[in-house]
Amino acid sequence: MAQEVRERRVARRSADELEKLKVAGQIVGETLDLVRAQIAPGVTTLELDKLAEDHIRARGAVPSFKGYRGYPAATCIQIDDVVVHGIPDETALEVGQIVGVDLGAYCDGYHGDGAFTTVVGQSEKGQELLAVTRGALMIGLAEARAGNRLKQISQAVQEHVESRGYNVVRQLTGHGIGQKMHEPPQIPNFYSRGEFEDYELVLQPGMVLAIEPMVNAGTAQVQVDEEDGWTVRTADGELSAHFEHTVVITDSEPLVLTLAEGAKLLSDVPGYGQA
Ligand code: MF3
Ligand code: CO
Repeated sequence: MAQEVRERRVARRSADELEKLKVAGQIVGETLDLVRAQIAPGVTTLELDKLAEDHIRARGAVPSFKGYRGYPAATCIQIDDVVVHGIPDETALEVGQIVGVDLGAYCDGYHGDGAFTTVVGQSEKGQELLAVTRGALMIGLAEARAGNRLKQISQAVQEHVESRGYNVVRQLTGHGIGQKMHEPPQIPNFYSRGEFEDYELVLQPGMVLAIEPMVNAGTAQVQVDEEDGWTVRTADGELSAHFEHTVVITDSEPLVLTLAEGAKLLSDVPGYGQA
């Protein structure tokens, strides 16, 4: 695809649109923090989902995920070997589990999307996996700058993860976001020349991206649950982690939208630089 055609497919948001995207992103950040504070042994994933949905609606927004291609909940909550798209249910969390929470908010015509992964209670399990995955998000975000090609994000994430002995999931990608939750471009967490046409996209101010590394302790291979059609698990049953932010490309650093305290430039995000 010609470069200019590729770039025309990806929206560049006006100042007015960016204000709305900031509100949606902040609601996502607030909701993620609320849920994070309630993660403890004995709490069910459905209870966490209800907490999230109530907050999103109290803020005048709608959960982006609910009803998306028939998805039944406001959040995706994934335990241990579940990579993404875990459906909340009556399962109670247990000490030492790795739990990921992913959610979106739709407000005034625009979406925000974010995720984190943490451990339940006091446990050393998965700590390195969590640090590597969060680090991969930060390293990828650092490449999300005007003038860079999209593949620089993909390459930076992959290098960070694989050099530490972990594997990136290849069957799922990050994405553009705005009036729809999933818009062009696709943002793979690995580079394989020619596999994605968006690799060569030149990033420009006003583009809004949801960057989301999914990292496995074992094989990169994943499989979708045949019964529910959603739950994505590692093929070998090993642990997986996932972090996501929605960001705006600017003239300098990316502006991170999915924070409870409101949008911040990347280097001002708490914990940046600890990768
Ligand atoms: N956060 C996911 C993503 O970025 C979306 C979850 S799929 C849904 O693609 F069906 F749950 F919405
Ligand atoms: Co996403």
